[in-house]
Amino acid sequence: MSQTILIEDNFDLQKLFAINLQNFVGTDIIHRENAQDTLSLLKILPQVSLIISRAKVHGEPTAKILYDFIKEEGLNTSLIVLGECPEISHEILCLSEPISWEIIVKQAAKNLGVNLEVSHKVKVDYVPVSLHYFYEINQTPCDIYIRIKKGRDQFQFIKRIHQNDSFDRTTIQKYEEQGLKEFYILHEYVQYFTTFVTNALITRLERDDLTLEDRILTTSYAHEIVRERLQQLEIDQASIELSETSINSMVQSVRNSLEMVSLIKFLFSNKVSYAYQHAHLLALMCHYILSKQSWYKLEHLNILSFVAFFADTTLKTTPQMRISSEKELNASQLTEAEKEEVRFHAKDAFNIVSLHPEANQFIKTIILQSHGRLDGISFSDDPSEELHPLSQIFIIADHFVRILLNPELPSNKKDILAIMSKKYSGESYKKIMKALEQKFV
Ligand SMILES: [Fe+2]
Repeated sequence: MSQTILIEDNFDLQKLFAINLQNFVGTDIIHRENAQDTLSLLKILPQVSLIISRAKVHGEPTAKILYDFIKEEGLNTSLIVLGECPEISHEILCLSEPISWEIIVKQAAKNLGVNLEVSHKVKVDYVPVSLHYFYEINQTPCDIYIRIKKGRDQFQFIKRIHQNDSFDRTTIQKYEEQGLKEFYILHEYVQYFTTFVTNALITRLERDDLTLEDRILTTSYAHEIVRERLQQLEIDQASIELSETSINSMVQSVRNSLEMVSLIKFLFSNKVSYAYQHAHLLALMCHYILSKQSWYKLEHLNILSFVAFFADTTLKTTPQMRISSEKELNASQLTEAEKEEVRFHAKDAFNIVSLHPEANQFIKTIILQSHGRLDGISFSDDPSEELHPLSQIFIIADHFVRILLNPELPSNKKDILAIMSKKYSGESYKKIMKALEQKFV
């Protein structure tokens, strides 16, 4: 699904525009309050297809700032301005008042390649597909397009890879180096294309001769694909199969892991998302703690790896994933809607994972308790002894990895454990941290 940023300071209009854009244009709406807010998001989410912004917000020349940024960065993001903005109206569509939601929907549909039928049912012609779908395939079952700007508010879709053409990772990397963030495929091929990519990834992950590095990289692409699909809060057969194979592959990599320093170096030097860096290191830390327990069985690692793979799956951005306390959440620059997503993410993950046939009672319980609360809402500052012992291990491993991955916090084990020891008063948590004090392999 395409993503659209909406900057509208009138709360009622904001709701009205968002609902209709979602319903009629089928685009995912991300709310932003001003230009600064939007620029921070564009830096981490440059694939946003469209921005709909008020010309000015509280005196700030919002549209002009966004226009300059898009131009400077050479982004393929289009802009629709609500209200007069003479400085940029020669190049950008600026809608004059009165602005109805119907006009916005019509213009957004034009920009995103969506056909609005007379019946007002959405007919999406072209659907964006992130580049990570293409890294593990060398052929596609359908034609692949790119979107280019044709006029002030018009886009054209040009065929770039023909069905059954051969290509490799270098070809895709070249597109990426030129600033391309996503390809497009015709709507009717989405299911077919996804099944094709899923099968290719599963076949690759099931190979025995993959190097550890290749296995981690392929699992990270699979993780991105599953996350993207689950963010619609649905789970389908392709996501179920792909996640099962990916988790098995993750367990296999964790059990034969590289030395910690080399692993971190590898995770950072490659195009591995923050989400997968976190999930993989988290499974590794769980494995490390589990291996020090007398009762440890492989099944425990399978359970905690499953949870690590899915726990933050409903969160859309890295800043959301970095939050690990209510205090951090309140101090963050996230919008109110994003804060709510963070607050409820353990419960949301629990709801969606409950539909996964492999999710047993342990998995569901640990996901719900993954931030120290029994109800899966918000965060606990000092998790209680009441939580399941596997949840306690997960919480300690998760906290350790979040500090390790935070560039503003220490990255050596001794300092990380010193920070952590201030938080947990429960004896069992202290015991788990003791296991982490021992030398990593
Ligand atoms: Fe989480």
